[in-house]
Amino acid sequence: MLLVCFIDREGLMEHGAGGRKLAWCLLVALLSVASAEVFFEERFDDGWEDRWVKSDWKKDENTAGDWNHTAGKWSGDANDKGIQTYPDFRFFAISAQFPEFSNKDKSLVFQFSVKHEQKLDCGGGYMKLLSGDIDQKKFSGETAYSIMFGPDICGYSTKKVHAILSRDGKNHLIKKQVPCKTDQLTHLYTFIIRPDATYSILVDNEEKESGNLTSDWDLLPPKQIKDPDAKKPDDWDDNEYIPDPEDKKPEGYDDIPKEITDPDAKKPDDWDDEEDGEWTPPTIPNPEYKGPWKQKKIKNPNYSGKWKAPMIDNPDFEDDPDLYVFPNLKYVGIELWQVKSGSLFDNVLLTDDPEYAKKVAEETWGKLKDAEKAAFDEAEKKKEEEEKANTTDDDTDEDDSDADDSDHEDSNEKDDETTKENTSKHDEL
Ligand SMILES: *[C@@H]1O[C@H](CO)[C@@H](O)[C@H](O)[C@H]1NC(C)=O
Ligand SMILES: *[C@@H]1O[C@H](CO)[C@@H](O)[C@H](O)[C@H]1NC(C)=O
Ligand SMILES: *[C@@H]1O[C@H](CO)[C@@H](O)[C@H](O)[C@H]1NC(C)=O
Ligand SMILES: *[C@@H]1O[C@H](CO)[C@@H](O)[C@H](O)[C@H]1NC(C)=O
Ligand SMILES: *[C@@H]1O[C@H](CO)[C@@H](O)[C@H](O)[C@H]1NC(C)=O
Repeated sequence: MLLVCFIDREGLMEHGAGGRKLAWCLLVALLSVASAEVFFEERFDDGWEDRWVKSDWKKDENTAGDWNHTAGKWSGDANDKGIQTYPDFRFFAISAQFPEFSNKDKSLVFQFSVKHEQKLDCGGGYMKLLSGDIDQKKFSGETAYSIMFGPDICGYSTKKVHAILSRDGKNHLIKKQVPCKTDQLTHLYTFIIRPDATYSILVDNEEKESGNLTSDWDLLPPKQIKDPDAKKPDDWDDNEYIPDPEDKKPEGYDDIPKEITDPDAKKPDDWDDEEDGEWTPPTIPNPEYKGPWKQKKIKNPNYSGKWKAPMIDNPDFEDDPDLYVFPNLKYVGIELWQVKSGSLFDNVLLTDDPEYAKKVAEETWGKLKDAEKAAFDEAEKKKEEEEKANTTDDDTDEDDSDADDSDHEDSNEKDDETTKENTSKHDEL
């Protein structure tokens, strides 16, 4: 790193900044960072609204959500603002445009931070990259995108990082389960796609998943398929068991009756053949009867195993060395449905340099995370104490009102205690 300082005397005159010397110091990193190409970077400082377009989507149904420019209820720096979803039960859609680019022969790093202050129980916290030309005022859940990336939480079953890649109009989900953070603090999500078609997913600057686009998404047709022309050979014996030819039905087996007359039954003494009809003894199950005869089974010595069609090269497979390329990236957007709002997005970055992204991550999220955690703990403590105080207050209130009530019966001095007065009046009625 090199420290460059310019002393600008003209600036001194123009701005008339007293007798002080005016100096601008620029930190110029000469290493890899110097070569980083930044396609888009947004810290949501003042003026962010000029760069982002709120969509009109769902406005006519009055279910379009809005964005609060804030650092949130707890933060590491109250001046470091992002944009936060509000109110509850809304659709959110907002996007920003950047000069169109292709990531061919370059790494693509897509990074942002999100804090779910509301303790997100069901909703998305992801962002999208879109290509080509879109009408940002109409950006919606229906708008085709190229990449969707970030956390998604719903109930106990869905707590994952989405990494969806679109190809030929179809969206392909990553086949691996990448868990996301579920607490109420800011977390950083980074998706890196490299020209060798490998990728990494980082959470809080730590690699959580990696691999390649071919194996972890179904972007291409399979390389091999079951031979559709293969047929099971006629002499293929797929019976694992056969009847045991040695096992023969015992002679007279079928003559054994299912039921027999009860040998212990006796005609009742008062049975009257003329009135009651002829007495027939009741039947009982025959203990000798063993059901229909079944031949024993033995392993088939000629068993050839389960038949499977052999795999052949898929004629529809065509390898694509540009599988990782998104040639017309042009917008970044947030499009969500949230039951409980309060997700705060910040520090959106699109670059070709994972090292630069790492550096930005440390300077933003990394620098503030401990202070934010402390602020959150403080807020939680305060809430807890308030809750405790409220409970004790309630107890005292009850005691007080009992006492007040008896007072009121004698004198009506306390005009400010309208509620209690009304209550006691009701009691009297
Ligand atoms: C915006 O966020 C701040 C900080 O949490 C909060 O005080 C304010 O009420 C929020 N505004 C809206 C409209 O939600
Ligand atoms: C992708 O990863 C799989 C599994 O690790 C590996 O078998 C395959 O060779 C890789 N493909 C490429 C193109 O690197
Ligand atoms: C097994 O195959 C041989 C030759 O085809 C045949 O002779 C024999 O009967 C078969 N055995 C059984 C149990 O099917
Ligand atoms: C405590 O009571 C106050 C006043 O009634 C209320 O505004 C606050 O939300 C309560 N706090 C908690 C944590 O319940
Ligand atoms: C109590 O009674 C007064 C006068 O009748 C009324 O104006 C006020 O709204 C009542 N307050 C409550 C909390 O019911």
